[in-house]
Amino acid sequence: MKVIVETDRLFLRQMNEDDFDALYLVLADTEIMKHYPYIFDEKKVREWIERNMNRYNETGFGMWAVCLKKTGEMIGDCGLTLQNIDGEILPEIGYHIRRDCQHKGYAKEAAKGVMDWALVNTDYPALYSYCKYTNEASIRTAESIGMRFEREYPDEANGTTHVSVFYR
Ligand SMILES: CC(C)(COP(=O)(O)OP(=O)(O)OC[C@H]1O[C@@H](n2cnc3c(N)ncnc32)[C@H](O)[C@@H]1OP(=O)(O)O)[C@@H](O)C(=O)NCCC(=O)NCCS
Repeated sequence: MKVIVETDRLFLRQMNEDDFDALYLVLADTEIMKHYPYIFDEKKVREWIERNMNRYNETGFGMWAVCLKKTGEMIGDCGLTLQNIDGEILPEIGYHIRRDCQHKGYAKEAAKGVMDWALVNTDYPALYSYCKYTNEASIRTAESIGMRFEREYPDEANGTTHVSVFYR
């Protein structure tokens, strides 16, 4: 197993099929699903893993497994992906942390690690985070790593999407 990002309490590594149970606990949670236009059932979680494994091959990055250094347990995912943001394909930092592990600074720690990784390993002039405009936890996490409001735009899935940005 190769560690891609290391922080004080966490390490991030590539996810694989064996992470299904851990990731299902993170994504198929009613609170997390509140922010998504679809339901994370078993099939969606398996597709999520497969899509990220494809991304590692295609772009060299994706959503990675967020694991506790102390136990090795996977408590969420966080990483860099290319997303269609208001019609443009842009690098986005995303994160999901299992409900019982939230409010401990793990998303901030993982997202900062991913941002540092992206600044060293890619040459994108800007890094983005986007979410439904009501997703305060997500917006606060983006701002806690130095991102700032960039724009809001109407879209079908979210009603209004909020975009945060960090310029290198
Ligand atoms: C967004 C999410 C990853 C945050 O995880 P977390 O580990 O609890 O976040 P942290 O403890 O690192 O907190 C990061 C910042 O967000 C703030 N925050 C966290 N949860 C919050 C909430 N429910 N409401 C308001 N602010 C919140 C924290 O206060 C902190 O800000 P600060 O540094 O200014 O104090 C988590 O809530 C989650 O998984 N949500 C569902 C998935 C999701 O919406 N992901 C983004 C999709 S685009």
